[in-house]
Amino acid sequence: MKGVVLAGGLGTRLLPMTRVTNKHLLPVFDRPMIYYPLQQLTSADIDDILVVTGGDHAGDFLKALRNGQDFGLDHLRYAYQEGEGGIAAALALAEDFAGGEPIVVILGDNLFEDSLAPLIHEFQRNPIGAMLLLKEVDDPDRFGVAAVEGDRVVSIIEKPSEPETNLAVTGCYMYDSRVFDVIRGLTPSERNELEITDVNNQYIAWQEMRHIKLKGWWTDAGTRPSLHHAANLVAESRENPVLSGRRVVGELESSGGA
Ligand code: DAU
Repeated sequence: MKGVVLAGGLGTRLLPMTRVTNKHLLPVFDRPMIYYPLQQLTSADIDDILVVTGGDHAGDFLKALRNGQDFGLDHLRYAYQEGEGGIAAALALAEDFAGGEPIVVILGDNLFEDSLAPLIHEFQRNPIGAMLLLKEVDDPDRFGVAAVEGDRVVSIIEKPSEPETNLAVTGCYMYDSRVFDVIRGLTPSERNELEITDVNNQYIAWQEMRHIKLKGWWTDAGTRPSLHHAANLVAESRENPVLSGRRVVGELESSGGA
């Protein structure tokens, strides 16, 4: 299985910090934001990884990540997204890289407390259809929100003003190779983006969507408050790894770590 980190977009919500570098290279506590999703992938033994980026500071990724040696990798691949046509448009750039294999995709501004390795391995055992990770949140209107019937996700609504549930769709998605055909069939949303939610709703319509509810904390770091919150969560987890009772993500195993 191959891994994709989506770190495109222009990061305008974090201006003026993003005037000099890409949003995903801003620090979250003690390391650049993109380290967190990359380490999630390597902790699941995914060693073939594509980083999709864009904007004026794409070259900074090469300086920060090089060939991925800080993550125990011997190579990293990069793709460049023009403009910000949406998460699904960024993912479309991974089609050749995926080469017909199933993929796990993580948004470059998403941080998860727990290691995602067991969940990724579960999809790998039966890599057909798609899998989502859901998390109960207090502010579901900021996210894609899952509507459920019994144990089944029946639809996802992107940033609903009146969310039916508090189950946010987190930024980790697993797909079989049909995902690229689905993206080709999408039309841009009202915000003029190709939406990952529309991709996920197609797998739901096929009844080929599985999901898992996360126990540990999850946050994005793409707004000023959430960037600050993410740093605090990481700091607390580092200080109280025993109290939290979970494996704390983000500890680098190879040189260059904290
Ligand atoms: O964080 C989870 C949420 O991410 C989901 O619940 C939503 O369903 C999903 O649409 C997305 O919502 P956001 O509005 O928060 O996404 P945002 O535009 O902030 O983009 C998140 C990341 O996706 C960003 O850090 C990099 C990547 N991205 C985004 C866009 C728009 C790209 O690579 N290219 C893009 O064009």
